[in-house]
Amino acid sequence: MKILAIETSCDDTCAAVLDNDWLLSNVISSQTDLHKEWGGVVPDIAKRAHTARINAVIASAFTRAKFSIYNFKFLINSENSNYQNEKIEKIIEEGMKNIDVIAVTQGPGLAIALAVGVNTAKELAVKYNKKLVAVNHIEGHILSNLIKNRVGKPERKIEFPALCLTVSGGHTKIVLITNYELKIKNYEFKYKVVGETLDDAAGEALDKAAKLLGLGYPGGPVIERIALQSRVTLLKLPKPLADKKTLDYSFSGLKTSFYYQIKDWSKEKINKNLANLANDFQESVFETLIRKYKLAIERYQPKTLLAAGGVLANLTLRKKLRKLARETKTPLLMPLKKEFNTDNAAMIGLVGYYKALRSEWADPLTLDRDPRLDLI
Ligand code: KG4
Ligand code: ZN
Repeated sequence: MKILAIETSCDDTCAAVLDNDWLLSNVISSQTDLHKEWGGVVPDIAKRAHTARINAVIASAFTRAKFSIYNFKFLINSENSNYQNEKIEKIIEEGMKNIDVIAVTQGPGLAIALAVGVNTAKELAVKYNKKLVAVNHIEGHILSNLIKNRVGKPERKIEFPALCLTVSGGHTKIVLITNYELKIKNYEFKYKVVGETLDDAAGEALDKAAKLLGLGYPGGPVIERIALQSRVTLLKLPKPLADKKTLDYSFSGLKTSFYYQIKDWSKEKINKNLANLANDFQESVFETLIRKYKLAIERYQPKTLLAAGGVLANLTLRKKLRKLARETKTPLLMPLKKEFNTDNAAMIGLVGYYKALRSEWADPLTLDRDPRLDLI
């Protein structure tokens, strides 16, 4: 089964091509440069950029998957000429002949950004008479752990129950995963959110702290880089909900405390202590993530641990998770490539493949984006 996957839930325009669960191509056009000066994602800018780029991104995914006889240069990040747009159309036409199923992110995410991907997928499904599946973005992140390369490697297995920590800019959740008896062949997983953030997501907290420190957007990667130079602990930050039995998270108090502790500092003092401040904040966020995840492991005794989402690109967090896995003697899976952590269409195509095996089709005439789609 050949799948074209499309993902436009936030600020990355993504398309991927899969052969069953084998990934043939994965194209990500990041809009960071456009949103940077605003200090965060501006939905209207995201929508316009997705609209301008989506066809070129799909054409690029087909070219890289070798699904097109055309091979010529075109741009993804800026306007193409009419001549180039015609070529892009031809590549898509050629590529679509090989495709059986189109998978698209339905939600959660930014409504007007999601709509670009959903409308493109619907149009292609109708025009080329293809099957359509709607995918939950969070399920995509969770199962990004199972993406295989173009020769079907690696073979990874989840033992049930499994417990996934998903941490990104939009969500922070601990998800218990079980499988329906007998349906395991079709990868029909059952999800239960056992803990989640009551306010900011972990990635969002890192982005906000970076903004306070004048480090730009997105904050997570810059904080990671700067924190590596840290030598001492400067601030005493709170441990949100640490004394409670809840598995929920809260990061807004952490951010507020951070703000109040440095608000009277001069620019020079902040700059001089940048590495230690970045590290203090990052450590507090990660220790909070680990503390509740550990509590969840003790409570649910999972046989496999999974972690996913943009913040998992962070090597310090990955190290902490590996340590926790050793301590709790539970095997841990994390996405194998950096590009599978942050938003991508490969993970959407993989979930799309599982849903297609179960014939869970969406109607190309009526499918609508769902910005608040739940994980069930
Ligand atoms: O999964 P993702 O690409 O998008 C959402 O679905 O939200 O996650 C984006 C988030 C941003 O908050 C970004 O700062 C964070 O992931 N992030 C990182 C790193 N790379 C991206 N956080 C910490 N360290 C990183 N290296
Ligand atoms: Zn995401």
